[in-house]
Amino acid sequence: MRVLRSPAAVSRLADTWRCVGLRTALVPTMGALHEGHLALIRAARRWADKTIVSVFVNPTQFGPGEDLAAYPRDFAKDRRLCAREGVDLIFAPAPRAMYAPDFSTWVEERRLADHLCGMRRPGHFRGVCTVVLKLFNICRPDMAVFGQKDAQQTLVIKRMVRDLDVPVKIVVHPTVREADGLAMSSRNAYLTTAQRSVAPRIYQALSAVTRWRDEGATIAVIRRRLRARVRHIPGARIDYVSIADEDTLDEIRAARRGQQLLVAVAVFLGRARLIDNIRVRW
Ligand code: PAJ
Repeated sequence: MRVLRSPAAVSRLADTWRCVGLRTALVPTMGALHEGHLALIRAARRWADKTIVSVFVNPTQFGPGEDLAAYPRDFAKDRRLCAREGVDLIFAPAPRAMYAPDFSTWVEERRLADHLCGMRRPGHFRGVCTVVLKLFNICRPDMAVFGQKDAQQTLVIKRMVRDLDVPVKIVVHPTVREADGLAMSSRNAYLTTAQRSVAPRIYQALSAVTRWRDEGATIAVIRRRLRARVRHIPGARIDYVSIADEDTLDEIRAARRGQQLLVAVAVFLGRARLIDNIRVRW
């Protein structure tokens, strides 16, 4: 396994692969790898001849007062895990290699990115789109894998790829969960033992939605029940609870039969801001 920090060196290597007809896949990450990331890496490896994992805590997607400095970093462990998974190349640039001091060009998706996390974290998806397009340009993959855990991120990236004719196939992998249902996340490391013990109630609340749908509850009733469930998790503070159309991310009042919905929550639990979601077909 190679580890490269220079964007130019990565592009050179990726071009040699491309020249001999090898299919390459990219798994973009911010490191602190867990089983969720590893599932994406395995999906990439099944599809591709060469698998690249980028490890870069992207400063431009963190807002003022967010956890950029505290974000968990353990490159030695990430490197071990990638080697064990058969990754061909880790791209781990320094921030200054990605952002020149006079960096001034941004990629902004203007329709989906204003909702949910984008509404609560202004500029977040501008940072995500910009870094992901840069990673695509540097690594030149045929395919890239993203996790359903960050549902809005997958939708925004797919929109960017469509709108800007980016020649990368986007694959979305299902959310990987702990045995008790908690969605795996690098930020789970922030939870105290007490917070960790109540955190699975986020997914339990989301899971109740399909049952309520089957019992004939309206969207308004479901939204109210879901909010109440999440609010009653000890120590939890709701950032948002959303029942939206998956294509537009607009909040819905009533669902059409067959409509694909995204039910998503963001919750502060102590220092951690946890997000989770389920897709529900009405
Ligand atoms: P990060 O949070 O490290 O996540 C990297 C990828 O792993 C994302 O596609 C995310 O959705 C996926 N992922 C995380 N937890 C998962 C889980 N429990 N199950 C399935 N997939 C999971 O998302 C980012 O980094 C950044 O925004 C990035 C795309 C790298 C741009 O900086």
